[in-house]
Amino acid sequence: MGPNGAGKSSLGYALLGHPNYKVTSGKIIYKGEDVTRLPVNERARKGLFLSFQYPSEVPGVSMANFLRTAVNARRDKKSPMPVADFVKQLKETMKTLKIDESFMHRYLNEGFSGGEKKRAEILQMAMLRPEMAILDETDSGLDVDSLKVVAEGINRLMNPETGVLLITHYQRILNYIKPNKVYIMMDGKIVKSGGAELVHQIESTGYESIKAVAQ
Ligand SMILES: Nc1ncnc2c1ncn2[C@@H]1O[C@H](COP(=O)(O)OP(=O)(O)OP(=O)(O)O)[C@@H](O)[C@H]1O
Ligand SMILES: [Mg+2]
Repeated sequence: MGPNGAGKSSLGYALLGHPNYKVTSGKIIYKGEDVTRLPVNERARKGLFLSFQYPSEVPGVSMANFLRTAVNARRDKKSPMPVADFVKQLKETMKTLKIDESFMHRYLNEGFSGGEKKRAEILQMAMLRPEMAILDETDSGLDVDSLKVVAEGINRLMNPETGVLLITHYQRILNYIKPNKVYIMMDGKIVKSGGAELVHQIESTGYESIKAVAQ
């Protein structure tokens, strides 16, 4: 968590290797390996995943085609997922995320509502099964029912083998997801860490109180 402009999305982009971000100092160590200079696709193959705060529309590429290419890109080239298995898994996952099957033939995010785009991000996560998922405001702009569906999707992924870094502005997601740790980022730095109680503190006193203590 952190105020607008704190650098939360920038951190997510830098961790995944977005070309607009240059790491000028420090290193990104993932599972003991320095991945600071690895291209994005190799980071993804290693299990890193980023769900965008503002997902892009990709006209001309259907959701099903996109997902199949992405799923196979994470697998060994010699053993792509059989089409029937892929379709079965996609249909099941769409059902649990309450995404209509017709969406698989639509172009990725094109004309999707804000909430539909967020669900599509969780669908990608569920299909790709990352080991470290960075979810940038996946709960923003969701109605109560969608929030529950998205949170359940995230919870299904949370296990000792999978890390989730959830960037959020809202306490309400904590009704569904229990964080192991809460970090507050301000001016590009982690200024405080703690448990879920930190979120309640921010809700009542705001970030300025934390800034005053940190300085
Ligand atoms: N290409 C860029 N060049 C210069 N500054 C940038 C660039 N991209 C982002 N910034 C700035 O970096 C700061 C951090 O932005 P970032 O999007 O990471 O914030 P955030 O914590 O995700 O905020 P929000 O909660 O509003 O999403 C902002 O002040 C932003 O304007
Ligand atoms: Mg952001």
